[in-house]
Amino acid sequence: MNALMPAAALSLLSPNGFPDDVPDGVRDRVPGNVPDDVIDDVIGDVPDDVPDDVINGLCAERKHLPCRLLYDDLGAALFDQICGVEEYYPTRAELALLGDHLPHLAATVGARARILEPGSGTGHKTRLLLSAMQAPACYVPIDVSATQLADNAESLRREFPDLEVLPVCGDYLAPLRLPTPARSFDATLVFFPGSTIGNFHPDEACTFLARLADLAEPGGWLLLGADANTDEDSLLRAYDDEAGVTAAFNLNVLSHLNRSHAATFDPAAFLHRAVWNAAHSRVEMHLVSRRRQVVQVAGRAIGFERGEAIVTEHCYKHSAPALTAMLHRAGWSVKETYPDAQRRMTLWLARTTTR
Ligand code: TRP
Repeated sequence: MNALMPAAALSLLSPNGFPDDVPDGVRDRVPGNVPDDVIDDVIGDVPDDVPDDVINGLCAERKHLPCRLLYDDLGAALFDQICGVEEYYPTRAELALLGDHLPHLAATVGARARILEPGSGTGHKTRLLLSAMQAPACYVPIDVSATQLADNAESLRREFPDLEVLPVCGDYLAPLRLPTPARSFDATLVFFPGSTIGNFHPDEACTFLARLADLAEPGGWLLLGADANTDEDSLLRAYDDEAGVTAAFNLNVLSHLNRSHAATFDPAAFLHRAVWNAAHSRVEMHLVSRRRQVVQVAGRAIGFERGEAIVTEHCYKHSAPALTAMLHRAGWSVKETYPDAQRRMTLWLARTTTR
């Protein structure tokens, strides 16, 4: 059932790659609906898509694309929809864990924390965290989607009038300059939910966790959400839902390239496929060419065989011992773990080791 893109999802993308029939709550998040003065408030620059990444990836033996291309404004909105999909259990499981354990976790971290959130998403989990924390010094969301950042910062300030919100626009894999808050802080808490850690190659995950340890400084905290599920059946359902939201999310990469790289992809000529790669303990997101075809991308002709795939993302499912080792190598020591009843989604509380 993971091979064919459902018609319902295909209808989301018109031949010119623009959505005709976006799901509820998505259209109002498409760029253009946030006033410029709100965007001006975001610190940092939207990272340029480096065309070479794209061309190199599409010319490689095993075609692939940088996964950040999934998260343009429409992609970010579609990802929100995925989080509400029945088969996609990680979000629900994590929300339940946060509901159960945040009071204790917030008390452990203590008052006046500077809260950093790389890849801040739409902030539902953020709201739970901010409500649980005692007198947080400031909240610093870091994201590549300026529209989404601006949008969220504005509503967070309304909901938490005492909180200083300092959005930073940027790629959190690159060095970042953090804004100085008005109030002093006692410790930094990095919040990285959503099993996003699994979207990095394991080596990169380790480098990224080490960067977070630098940002958190000695005595800083990390609250991480990670999925350890390796059951193929439930994973393929989670990453290829019946309604086709994940398929639409994946195929949006092609529409994104049409807009950003003068590409000529016909999204209807590709289908979404999720594959469990047990040897690497990861779900792979593929876009499979339905026919032999040639597509123009940034002035280059890219040929596809029928059935040839582009890999758009890997979702690694690290076991608890593997993730513990990774955190340790990155300068964190694990303080507490809270797995869900099925021991899939798990909350991790770690602290920087002072070396
Ligand atoms: N961090 C999420 C995950 O790995 C991202 C995600 C959910 C995702 N569904 C996806 C990424 C589909 C690519 C394709 O679970």
